[in-house]
Amino acid sequence: MDFKSELLHGGAKGDAETGALSVPIFSASTYNQKDPSKRQAYDYSRSGNPTRASLEEYVAALERGHSAFAFASGMAAIGSVLTGLLSAGDHLVAPLHLYGGTHRFITQFLKKFAVNHSFADFRSVESVKAAIRPETKVILIETPSNPLMQVTDIKAVIALAKSRGIYTVFDNTFLTPLLFRPIEHGADVVVHSATKFLGGHSDLIAGIATAANKEVASKIYFVQNGFGAVLSPENSWTLIRGIKTLSARLNAEEQSARIIAEELTKRKYIAEVRYPGLVSHEGHELLKSYSSGFGAVLSFRVDSMATLDRIIKNVKLMAVAVSLGGVESILSWPAKMSHAAIPAAERAALGITDDWLRLSVGLEAPEDLLKDLDTAAV
Ligand SMILES: Cc1ncc(COP(=O)(O)O)c(C=O)c1O
Repeated sequence: MDFKSELLHGGAKGDAETGALSVPIFSASTYNQKDPSKRQAYDYSRSGNPTRASLEEYVAALERGHSAFAFASGMAAIGSVLTGLLSAGDHLVAPLHLYGGTHRFITQFLKKFAVNHSFADFRSVESVKAAIRPETKVILIETPSNPLMQVTDIKAVIALAKSRGIYTVFDNTFLTPLLFRPIEHGADVVVHSATKFLGGHSDLIAGIATAANKEVASKIYFVQNGFGAVLSPENSWTLIRGIKTLSARLNAEEQSARIIAEELTKRKYIAEVRYPGLVSHEGHELLKSYSSGFGAVLSFRVDSMATLDRIIKNVKLMAVAVSLGGVESILSWPAKMSHAAIPAAERAALGITDDWLRLSVGLEAPEDLLKDLDTAAV
């Protein structure tokens, strides 16, 4: 079955009893146990809920995983996976270019529990190799990176991790299983901020983690149930509905992103455009070697802070907001928004200077989005 059809028929179950195409929202906290001495499928909704289970089975199938676990946010998914796989004294290798909230979780939260970390330049497998220590348990991968859209040689990094018995956790928020399925390439866990492209409508906060095998699945379930940052049945339902239209949305958004990226390279007020779909992007061929697409997020650096100020104040069609992956285009200022949690000096060293803007391309006509930027910039 084509992935497009799979999104509709490959996992999301309706209701067997009534024939409804959509799964019911079971807003129950508890379940009648006819014989408490026997385990039944559901006893308490932190431990399991039929609507959430329907979402989890759906995503596990799409990601080619063993099982999936839905959380109240992307950070809850990432935090639960990392705390499930790591213990005090363990070490984690993560990309220098990383979502700001994950950076904060690693540097401030995990550190409190004596989990150490090293950041590496994931454009170079040698840099990742050099960061590995005997106690390294997890390598976290995020590609294309946010906001500079750097591309990782995931095959080399996963092979390296496997040769050292290290888990790989892949944040696949930007590509989604429509374009790339890391478990097919040997990743142990895939996480998503489902708030973004999976949900797709800027109307919920959610996270999901898919485990490649039973061993990692039981470690993640232990935290999901024990810590309890579960996704509500209502939001599980909303997320299922969002995922069903993933291919219709993301394919159209990617097409527009390509047009906009190409056009922006011709604008005088733009100093640099970074979109891996551009042939001139240094990671273009590498990303093409494992992903069937380049996604719908691009970044650009403007010619001056005055231009940036005008764009932010004057755009009308695109929202100036945090987040990405919604049907409405979202323009964000990484230095003050997604990456504000990273100290300014560190951010500057990474090249995430104040003059970068990131655009998540939605379903508007690309011509209208370009007109919005052009008009705002002057
Ligand atoms: C790549 C990436 N991972 C994780 C997160 C965190 O997800 P959430 O905001 O749903 O907690 C984000 C949020 O922007 C993100 O962009």
